[in-house]
Amino acid sequence: MPISQTDRDRWLKQLTEFLAIPSISTLPEHAADCRKAADWLMVELRRLGCPKVELLEGRGHPTIWAESPKVEGAPTVLIYGHYDVQPVEPLDEWTTPPFEATVRDGNLYARGAVDDKGQVFTMLKAYESVLDGGRIPPCNVHFIFEGEEECGGKVIFDILQRDAWRTEVDAVIVADMGYYAPGIPAVYTALRGLAYAEIHVRTAESDLHSGTYGGVAPNAIETMVRILSQLKDANGRIKIPGLYEAVKPPSKAELAGWKKLPFSERKFLKEEVTGKALTGVKGKSVFERTWALPTLEMHGIRGGFVAEGAKTVIPAQAVAKVSLRLVPGLKVETVYKQLAKAVKAVAPKYATVEVKPLHGGEPVQVKVDHPAFKALDEAFEAVVGKQTVSVRAGGSIPVVTELAKGGAPVLLTGVGLPDDRIHAPNEKITLQQVWDGVEVFGRFLRGFGGR
Ligand code: BES
Ligand code: MN
Ligand code: MN
Repeated sequence: MPISQTDRDRWLKQLTEFLAIPSISTLPEHAADCRKAADWLMVELRRLGCPKVELLEGRGHPTIWAESPKVEGAPTVLIYGHYDVQPVEPLDEWTTPPFEATVRDGNLYARGAVDDKGQVFTMLKAYESVLDGGRIPPCNVHFIFEGEEECGGKVIFDILQRDAWRTEVDAVIVADMGYYAPGIPAVYTALRGLAYAEIHVRTAESDLHSGTYGGVAPNAIETMVRILSQLKDANGRIKIPGLYEAVKPPSKAELAGWKKLPFSERKFLKEEVTGKALTGVKGKSVFERTWALPTLEMHGIRGGFVAEGAKTVIPAQAVAKVSLRLVPGLKVETVYKQLAKAVKAVAPKYATVEVKPLHGGEPVQVKVDHPAFKALDEAFEAVVGKQTVSVRAGGSIPVVTELAKGGAPVLLTGVGLPDDRIHAPNEKITLQQVWDGVEVFGRFLRGFGGR
């Protein structure tokens, strides 16, 4: 059933309210906001008629669990999403404030618009749209929404490790990614994992005058830069011994599938990467580089003097934040050890160097041959006229390994578009993608429930 304009206006208001809550999970000062976002969801789930709606507490931001009314003899779908969002900096690059959702040209701009509050909202509306007069859905639906996806929290892990029954369902659906391209919906066969760490370098007991000691004293930032520069070669290869040997390469069939995807490297560079050239491992395609190979990124360097003006100082310490994306075959613990070893091997004797793991997640691979994927394809076909393409994602959702433990197929999908600028200023969701998504996932619930 097509969605009426009145419904759309009402939903937009509701979504705007949800997006106004600055649930930035990584910043301790926003802990209360994370709770507010969780409360918002609980109110909504109760309004939808879920007889069981629970706040599951742990050491961190809470997870929400809800269950639809029981539908005897029907299968059970578990819907996952996250209500937390990334920080908003640099704030001055936002055209409109990140927590005042604004519509421009059919897009809704706000932090969390697509990642993932807007998609959680889409799922809730899809569920609402298939309830009958007695607020009974076409199949059993369970909901699990976490508040620590973006910050590497463990609350949801503890819950799922303790309660295996929660993932003993017939299908899990994760709407936290997007279409391959406008008009081309996708399911994901793999997500990369992550090993995020800090490198700490100390070269003296305290900072020193750069005139008096310049020329003899070791400099922590210079030392850091030398270390970092030795972790990758000029051809983009990561110089961590053992790393590539463990990588499980994609199958021939998978590579052949990627070759058939419409893709313009020039457009990708110009419109998405917005730089002047692509970098990375020479001789490998963009798909291989972003989906099937590990990366080492440097996120920030702290140390010395960075305020306005000049200060003549030799810094005694420096910290760098780095992370590796992990592909199938790689394990977080092993990679941390390999990274620490590689860093120590290139560090000069005069420096004290430490590698401190912050948080990580294992890579995942999922099979997409279960009938649930057919139900999803039929739903996309009916609404947007196209079935899904099978691709991989470069990003990570650490809890997917746990969601898969009950043996149910995990449908990694979503309504995002490549130009949504997730984690960046002016994040958006295209409203038509939301309206379509409500219909698609509604149809999926009906189709999967067999009614
Ligand atoms: N929704 C993203 C992951 C994603 C992005 C999947 C693009 C597929 C395509 C998720 O919210 C995310 O950003 N995850 C973090 C996890 C990390 C903080 C452990 C990521 O990938 O950086
Ligand atoms: Mn997300
Ligand atoms: Mn994210």
